[in-house]
Formats: sequence, C-alpha cells, structure tokens
Amino acid sequence: MFSVKDYRAAAKRRLPRMVFDYLEGGADDESGLGNNRAAFERWELTPSRLVDVSHRDQTISLFGRTLPTPLVIAPTGLNAAFWPSGDAALARAAGEAGIPFALSTASNMSIEEVARQATGDLWFQLYVVNRTLACSLVRRARAANYSTLVLTTDVAVNGFRERDIRNGFAMPFKFSARAAVDGLTHPRWLWSYLSNGMPQLENFVTGDTLDIASQAALLRREMDASFNWDDLCRIRDEWRGKLIVKGVLTAEDVARCVQAGADGVILSNHGGRQLADLPVPLDVLPGIRERSPSTAILLDSGVRRGGDVVKSIALGANAVMLGRATLYGLAARGEVGVSEVIGIVKQEIDRTLALIGCSTVRKLNSSYVTRSPA
Ligand code: FNR
Repeated sequence: MFSVKDYRAAAKRRLPRMVFDYLEGGADDESGLGNNRAAFERWELTPSRLVDVSHRDQTISLFGRTLPTPLVIAPTGLNAAFWPSGDAALARAAGEAGIPFALSTASNMSIEEVARQATGDLWFQLYVVNRTLACSLVRRARAANYSTLVLTTDVAVNGFRERDIRNGFAMPFKFSARAAVDGLTHPRWLWSYLSNGMPQLENFVTGDTLDIASQAALLRREMDASFNWDDLCRIRDEWRGKLIVKGVLTAEDVARCVQAGADGVILSNHGGRQLADLPVPLDVLPGIRERSPSTAILLDSGVRRGGDVVKSIALGANAVMLGRATLYGLAARGEVGVSEVIGIVKQEIDRTLALIGCSTVRKLNSSYVTRSPA
C-alpha cells in the first residue's frame, strides 16, 4: 500500500459496512466531505528552482516541544470498533513517530490505561456532557500527565449522520439480521471484535465515575449545550497544562480563545461530520492567520496527503491533525498500519519539499502556494 487511499480501500474491505460508514460518513448530504477535499485541490504548489534541497527538515516546535514532523493524531471516539485496543495502538504509533496523540473523551480505553501504554506526548480531548463530569475528567487527565487539553466546541448537539441512522449504528449495539450478515461477511473483523468483548466508554466505567447515564448521553452526543465562554475561562483556571480549543472557524472566535487564555486553536469542521455547510478550515486559515499572527493554529479536516500538510503550513498553520487518515491505517492493519500511514505522509512531505525547492517546513510561506486558475 503506497498511499492513504490504499489504506482506505483496505479498511473498507476489512470493516463491516456499518463500521466503515461510521468512520467515513459526514453530516447531512455529506457535501462537507467533498468541500474539504476540494479546498486542498484549489491550491497549487509554486516551485522555486535551483535551490539546494539536499538536506531537508520537517521538524517544528509546538508548545515548547520539538516534533519531527508537523503532525498530530486527532481525537476520535470508538476506536475499538476499528481494532482491538485501538486507542493504545494509535497512541503507541504516535509515540514511535514522536508526534502527539489526542485521546477522545469517547475512547474505549481509560485515560489512565492509555497513559500506561503510551510512549509519547498525550493530549486529552474534552467533551462536556455535564460540568461535574468534565471537572473529574480534567483532574484525571492532569493526574495521568497528559500535557494538553483539547476542548471540542463544535458538538453542542450531535450532527445528523444519515449513514449511521440508516445503518442503526448506535450503542448499545442492537443486533439485526442485516448487522449479523454485515458482521459474518467480514470474518477477520468479527473474530477480533468478538474475542475482545463489547467495547465500553471506559472513561465512564472506571474509578469514581461509574456513570451509565453519562455513557449513554455521550454515545448520543447529548452535550451540555449551555457551555459558553465563561465555562472556557473556568476550564482555563482548572487546567495548568496547554489548552487548545477545537472547532473554531472565525477570526473573532480565535481572538476570543486567546483572550480567554487558550494556548492555541484547531481550525476544524470535524471532518464534515457535524454540519455539512460549515466553512472549510483551509479556506478560512489565511484570513485568521493574518488577524492572529502569533497564535498557535492547528488545522484538520480533509488532510490525506503530505502535499495537503505543506499547503496548510504555507497558508499559516503551525501543524496539522490527521483524523480519518490514521484511522484507515488502524482499521487496515492496527498499530503497524498507523505507523505506515504516518510514514507515508512524512515521505510525501519530504518529497514535496524537495520538489518545490524548500528545504524546511519552517521556511514555508504563502509564496509556495497559488490559487489554481480554474
Ligand atoms: C472524529 N472526530 C472527533 N473529534 C473530537 O473532538 N472528539 C471525538 O470523539 C471525535 N470522534 C471522531 C470519530 C471519527 C470516526 C472521526 C472520523 C472523527 C473529529 C476528528 O477529531 C477530526 O476533527 C476529523 O477527523 C478531521 O477530519 P479528517 O482528517 O477525518 O478529514
């Protein structure tokens, strides 16, 4: 397999249709998925010739740490549906590559267990189902030495994912004849799934937070929709580590995040999974960078190639998050697959730098990209 696309095809073969649809699907008519990809295709790379690119470097500095490549693994829920102990597999592959892994609130392994198995920098992504639970999760992440808290702000209510609704993809999982056929026709997946037991939302079934009602609410994505800027300030007071706000898409919100004490933001439309008609992060990036020249800005949604990473950084991002790309690797081949996908994207970044005459990602700027005429 030579590209993220190849891992996507392998993931599609291995997973039952309803699990692949959960991984892949978007909200509403799914136009957000196409928009995210089309935005990357609208930019061309502008090469400089006769530049010495015999030594190339993609290291960056992010929140006081050096990363060997400007990548972070994005938080994703229900990773055990793709591979047994999927959270730890992603965390270990990220650690091996020297990049951060963000654990979702909706993980299938607990904050503490992932910390035990991980080898690198860990971030914890917070969904606020209710404020008491959020405080408890934040305390646990701090006690388990997570460096960074990612507050996701684009799930006030659940996006309408029609594939999941049609497939009856919900927890607790209801067995239907169609689901049984779907599982039985994917025996490799079924075997590993059955031998590891039904995944739980482990953050809600351990320690002091044995909370079935919250587990169900999280699975239905019933968040505390009253969460607002004052609550962000309270979280800032509570959390001593780095704090990043995920899901913002306007320059005004970015400025407010910084004012509230956030260390950075993630421009994201949740990979097109929440509302199809949201702006594409890549499209709003240049304007936001102009208004906030010194803010740490990460970007996700639609990144599938090293060239997409190079374009994002040239347009002002400090680093890029991989969501589905690394999940395809996980679903196809577990931890090895995640490492392979990271390796492919790294090689693509390296080759792209060489071919546009830019020896380091730190030198990338808007002169290396041109809006395509079409
Ligand atoms: C997600 N995403 C997500 N985000 C988050 O903050 N908490 C979560 O639990 C999840 N869960 C989740 C599950 C799955 C299956 C996917 C694909 C995505 C969104 C994720 O962090 C990221 O924003 C997008 O995946 C980025 O888009 P791409 O790279 O998938 O196109």
